[in-house]
Amino acid sequence: MVKPVRPTRISALGTYVPPGILDNQKLSQLVDTSDEWILQRTGIKTRHIVEKGVATSDLGAEAARRALAQRGIPATHIDLVVVGTTTPDMMFPSTAALIQDKIGAKTCWGFDLGAACCGFTFSLATASQMVATGRHNCALVVGADVMSSIVDYTDRTTCVLFGDGAGAVLVEPAVDEGLEIIDFALSIDGTGRDALKMAGGGSLHPASHETVDRRLHYIRQDGQAVFKFAVRNTEESSRLLMERNGVKADDVALFVSHQANRRIIMSAAERLGFPEEKVMLNIENYGNTTAATIPLALSDAVAQGRIKKGDLIVLASVGAGFTVGSVLLRWAI
Ligand code: ACO
Repeated sequence: MVKPVRPTRISALGTYVPPGILDNQKLSQLVDTSDEWILQRTGIKTRHIVEKGVATSDLGAEAARRALAQRGIPATHIDLVVVGTTTPDMMFPSTAALIQDKIGAKTCWGFDLGAACCGFTFSLATASQMVATGRHNCALVVGADVMSSIVDYTDRTTCVLFGDGAGAVLVEPAVDEGLEIIDFALSIDGTGRDALKMAGGGSLHPASHETVDRRLHYIRQDGQAVFKFAVRNTEESSRLLMERNGVKADDVALFVSHQANRRIIMSAAERLGFPEEKVMLNIENYGNTTAATIPLALSDAVAQGRIKKGDLIVLASVGAGFTVGSVLLRWAI
């Protein structure tokens, strides 16, 4: 483990989900599915879905405003914006630039980071390292996705899984000793490229009548391959992180995994030795919001009194690519 020049912390957290709700009942009117099947196989009951015309930058900007309000500082303090998203408003300009403008962060630079469901963990690790060098003092990290814009609501194997939402944190130099982002374990494995993808709209298959006819602008996945990879790698990356930092399951206050499927989370947690009360689950209310699941889970955990200042937290995520990212931190808010 390489020691940073200066330690960093999460200094504020804000989240936002759109008010519209899509529940299992409504989905069962769109495709051949049932509340019972969805709940049993995934743990999901409802998802929040945007109105037409609301984009990822709108959700991300609102989450960012809430984080800034919690910290009590103006947007002009931000010197870097990193946005983890799989559903940018458009191919370019970046969603980071759109959020920067919407919140009035006038003196910063930034970029989007594409890591699918690892969008938040990869962005947090990136921003943390940039603040650790001393070149940046206040980074805004956003995980936001409007998954409903790329979900095929005629495909029952994927449409039941996803929802829309956003979370934002500020990353600043640590103030209290030890209350910091301690370490992260990140990896990519492109051999998983066909297990989960949206093939249309990029340089390989630019948008055309043909790509639309072939429904290439929607998510396609091999659900079981993703499931197996996710269980194994959520466990392995979290274990690596914990072992190399001398952390045991008993030391951890809460295991906050990406919320893709209740069964994935519980299998990985069990293998890591976390009892149920140390596992954060809120997939029931939001579904898989991709880059937003971890900040949404952190926010709910704080609201429920399950995370307190000084607590040791393990974040874990696996996403399309494949991407794998775990983060170990001590809660500093
Ligand atoms: N309603 C009713 N039946 C369904 C539905 C549905 N919504 N979806 C699939 N089925 C059927 C299948 O057609 C199949 O029927 P068959 O046996 O007649 O062929 C049966 O249910 C079982 O299908 P499986 O794919 O074996 O079901 P499984 O238990 O694997 O659950 C699921 C499917 C929920 C997609 C699971 O594989 C999963 O969660 N995989 C991970 C995918 C994921 O999370 N992707 C998100 C992004 S990646 C990430 O975040 C890690």
